[in-house]
Amino acid sequence: MALEELIGSHKESSGPLRILSVGCGSGILDNQLIASVASSNRCFKYTGVDPNPVACQRFRESFEQLHLTNVELELKVQGIESLDINEPFDIIQLTHALYYFKDPADALEKLRRLLASNGKLVMVHAPNEHLNQLSECFWSHHVDHDIWFSSRLEEHLVQESINFTCRRLKGEIDVTQCFESGCEHGEELLDFITQNDCRESGVEVLERCLYFLKKISRIDGSSRKVEHPADIFVVV
Ligand SMILES: C[S@@+](CC[C@H](N)C(=O)[O-])C[C@H]1O[C@@H](n2cnc3c(N)ncnc32)[C@H](O)[C@@H]1O
Repeated sequence: MALEELIGSHKESSGPLRILSVGCGSGILDNQLIASVASSNRCFKYTGVDPNPVACQRFRESFEQLHLTNVELELKVQGIESLDINEPFDIIQLTHALYYFKDPADALEKLRRLLASNGKLVMVHAPNEHLNQLSECFWSHHVDHDIWFSSRLEEHLVQESINFTCRRLKGEIDVTQCFESGCEHGEELLDFITQNDCRESGVEVLERCLYFLKKISRIDGSSRKVEHPADIFVVV
């Protein structure tokens, strides 16, 4: 995983490595990352931040199942906007989180100030490819302002003369179940793709969504897949 490589290549600082994850969610990704970094026997402190208390609880429960002795975990149930940390971090990571923040530019400034010297801010972020045009249409949070997909983030970093690197990882998402009537997982996936409750949108809108999804998908055996690349931004 790209994040593991970046953390693995980070030069030892004195004391344990300090990692901050903002918008960590239920730890589906973060706990894999923690387990992988912990397997090198490196001691580190992992701080997760997310305003969703249920997600944070799930994060802790699955972390505890890992039984790691070289990791100290702290979870803060709060949004970036009210985050009140002053300690520096060696790695700060945001995975598919920036789009949810009220003021992404302000959040980035805040996080950059939390970087230790030699620290890295790593953002795994979606470009505005076909799939994300659905969220662009439906996501009410963004009704009066653009979603910060990769191009907007890049524009901001350039404008602010912030040094960064960016590389694209290919990826695909299996949307087969979105077309299976009554399939709960398929409905949840479509809600996630559109960032909208599609069951509330009415049959005509739902059909149009599915039509668009079909047009941008490819058939792979008995599955339907849509491209879902991610850009990895690293700010140093
Ligand atoms: C798509 S999820 C990504 C979760 C996790 N990073 C992952 O990749 O598995 C976005 C997360 O951002 C969180 N979030 C939303 N608004 C936020 C805010 N203002 N500050 C911090 N996190 C926020 C949500 O609660 C959600 O867990």
